Amino acid sequence: MPGFPLPNCALGVATAATQIEGGDLDTNWHRWAASGGISDGSTPARAADHWNRVDQDVALLADLGVRHYRLGLEWARLEPEPGVFDPEAFAHYRDELALLREAGITPLVTLHHFSLPGWHVDTGGWLGADAVAVFLRFVGEVVRRLGDLASEWITINEPNVYATQGYLYGVWPPGERSYRRTVAVLQVLVEAHLRAYLLIHRLQPHATVGLAHHLRVFTPAQARNPADRASTLASRYLFQDAVLAATSTGRSAGPLRVPRDLRPGRYADVHGINYYSRSTIRGFDHGVADGVEVNDLGWEVYPAGLVEVATQVYRRFPAPLWITENGTCDNDDRFRARYVYEHLARIAASPLPIERYYHWCFTDNWEWAEGEAARFGLVHLDFDTQERQVKESGLFYADVIAHAGVTEEAHRRWVAGRHYPRNGAPR
Ligand code: FCB
Repeated sequence: MPGFPLPNCALGVATAATQIEGGDLDTNWHRWAASGGISDGSTPARAADHWNRVDQDVALLADLGVRHYRLGLEWARLEPEPGVFDPEAFAHYRDELALLREAGITPLVTLHHFSLPGWHVDTGGWLGADAVAVFLRFVGEVVRRLGDLASEWITINEPNVYATQGYLYGVWPPGERSYRRTVAVLQVLVEAHLRAYLLIHRLQPHATVGLAHHLRVFTPAQARNPADRASTLASRYLFQDAVLAATSTGRSAGPLRVPRDLRPGRYADVHGINYYSRSTIRGFDHGVADGVEVNDLGWEVYPAGLVEVATQVYRRFPAPLWITENGTCDNDDRFRARYVYEHLARIAASPLPIERYYHWCFTDNWEWAEGEAARFGLVHLDFDTQERQVKESGLFYADVIAHAGVTEEAHRRWVAGRHYPRNGAPR
């Protein structure tokens, strides 16, 4: 079935503030870039210059027919000093949200997407003494000042990726390598989500609130090897299942303890799922199997996994599912349309209530430790001139939106005959 309808899942695109806005700010990522932590030596200071190009970008979203847009707020702009909020920065985001709504695009706002103001870093970041209270002060201010223009919120993006990259593997700020601190920061992020969920609902009872989980498929390198199997289960639990359980229910899960004053209950109106890939586990090593299809960063392309992880989530904690990110690094746009097609086909064939799909990303952008070198956009960005040009995959996506599904013609034109690289094969 090359073509298929997709009537029940609304299509959008996703972004994050630090990755697109540009600006010479003081954040953990600007500091990390200044200290040489980015592989191509770039910094987030130019990115997609979205801060100065909001009108153009909203017009482009509307041209693509997008009806849902996930965006992040840059905390360092809104609260440049502890407890001091910047009315101009709020006015800027108000204008953007209003523009989106005028264009018929519903915003989904992420409150924390990997970036912290410098002053926050100086007081210990998420492991600082008052980190949860400091976050709640920010969240409260945002919901009070922007709540008339937005009612869909992601509290925190991918706590597990933030914690492991920054505190276990040391490849993201703050560059630590400590299992104990990784668990500690995860626990703080869990508490921050739970309390933010309650606070947002107190301020805005009709709000829709969730967390964007990074979920992977874990598979043993050798299904019959007990060590690989045990390590697969342990990795999955520690990396994602414990966070999912604690943030969905308000109950402690394994090493993640929830403070006593928080009552067990429902803490996710929707589950945000960011799905990209599968990990193959050999002993303690997380890798990619030989010969499988991969993207330009070497991540396995495994479309069946989207519904595999969604099924695991839904069975344990039934709630509507929003795919808050899915996409691929394809620097020359050779296989992105096929990637989108194959993941949407899984959604179309699934009985799960997958209500939304936000493609990562709208334009090419600043990809954290990979800087400007990893392209995930439906729209090509020339970083020097800031010129935007819709890619073939972007035309395909717009066509899927327009037809609420993939037509035979679209399949023939944009998907058929496209191939992924293979792991281990020369590119
Ligand atoms: C996710 C992040 C997002 C982007 C994509 C490629 O883990 O949430 O910001 O970097 O990966």
